[in-house]
Amino acid sequence: MYLGIDLGTSGVKALLMDDAQQVLASATAPLTVSRPHPGWSEQAPSDWIEATRDALRELAAGQDLSAVKGIGLSGQMHGAVTLDRADHVIRPAILWNDSRSQSQAARLDAMPEFREISGNIVFAGFTAPKLLWMAEEEPQLFAQVDCVLLPKDYLRLWLTGERVAEMSDAAGTSWLDTGARAWSDRLLAASGMRRDQMARLIEGSAVSGGLRGEVASEFGLAQGIPVAGGAGDNAATAIGAGTVAEGQGFVSLGTSGVLFAATDRYLPRPDSAVHAFCHALPGMWHQMGVILSASGALEWLSGIVGRPAADLTAELGTALRPPGEVSFLPYLSGDRTPHNSASVRAGFAGLSARSDRAAMTQAVLEGVAFAFADNLAALRAAGSDPAALLALGGGARSDYWLRVIATALDLPVLVPESGDFGAAFGAARLGLMAESSADPAQVCTPPRIGAEIRPDPALRGAFDEALGRFRDLYPG
Ligand code: XUL
Repeated sequence: MYLGIDLGTSGVKALLMDDAQQVLASATAPLTVSRPHPGWSEQAPSDWIEATRDALRELAAGQDLSAVKGIGLSGQMHGAVTLDRADHVIRPAILWNDSRSQSQAARLDAMPEFREISGNIVFAGFTAPKLLWMAEEEPQLFAQVDCVLLPKDYLRLWLTGERVAEMSDAAGTSWLDTGARAWSDRLLAASGMRRDQMARLIEGSAVSGGLRGEVASEFGLAQGIPVAGGAGDNAATAIGAGTVAEGQGFVSLGTSGVLFAATDRYLPRPDSAVHAFCHALPGMWHQMGVILSASGALEWLSGIVGRPAADLTAELGTALRPPGEVSFLPYLSGDRTPHNSASVRAGFAGLSARSDRAAMTQAVLEGVAFAFADNLAALRAAGSDPAALLALGGGARSDYWLRVIATALDLPVLVPESGDFGAAFGAARLGLMAESSADPAQVCTPPRIGAEIRPDPALRGAFDEALGRFRDLYPG
């Protein structure tokens, strides 16, 4: 039996799978985000531990966890957890969708070594500019920083007592030499940091440490069982979805949206705003385009109109409609790929007196799909060309949305048979590989496909025209 723990932005999920990779149970506990100032997004790391405890307690109530042989971790990427010498948290964690360090990010990005060595733009959401912001705005707190951990690595500290990071998440800090899979002293120095403030780096499928007795006894787990390096949530999702070979890709409709392609080489292409990160397996990398609001945009609309998101999409019926008069730019939290702008904002265009709720829902679904079309163009420019995309994440429950995406991208969208193929499942697989040294190709198999949604040829022209209108609306 293996346990996967995914530290998301809106909750922690713990998932139990057996040795044959059948999911036995899962439990989630919610998390909230604090936004004390415009553009800020923070969480208290102690809340992550409490939510993980809640999820594990729920699992332990229904299952005997003493047979768990290995644990894997997954988590929201890029967040900065700052620790003092005694491993006490110095300030609330600054999250991936926090845009306060925009000017620091721009200054680091203007130094050519960042794109050259890390292979990526220094986006405002990445970790290095957050620490530079702290150095400039909270110098007394910054002076206490003895170690910076990524969010899931803080959970690992609680689980194992070890300060350890792994490649896939570390690639999103702007401190990693992504091709060499090692911290870069040049990048650390250029952003005012030291190598001794970084955690020990391992591969995602390697063992990071053993489970502490105190945590083990709280949930009936065996003391000392291995905790795998794990992965950032997107690489963990890829492990769960079997996206581990060149040519394979997925589209993920979470709070943020990701178009992900596995690569067997390091293929940086920062000028197209594509992310080039290490995969969670040795010798593998991946590319991805990231939009900051995918399901997040539909959830936002659902909150505004006071109707559940599923009701809004159901209102559109089942047959794919041609793109409507109303357009929506989904940049509620700015954009990463392809525009790299933390300050661009969302908007509706083309509203008329007859525009109703359904027209606005349709525009939101189409706007997110067009943002993915922009990501696909960026991925192609960067050398990835997926032949089909697996659909994952909460938003993939809407068949209508997947049909919009297939037609907007002119690519088949593959819908897994019901099951749990998310980041927590990928984390459990990494736990299995760390414990057993099993062959990744044997472990990371793709899910069975329940349906293939093909682009609608009759509406392709209309969607291309609407994509052109969408692009023209981008400010600046
Ligand atoms: C990826 C990214 C998001 C977060 C969401 O670069 O910022 O997908 O990982 O949890």
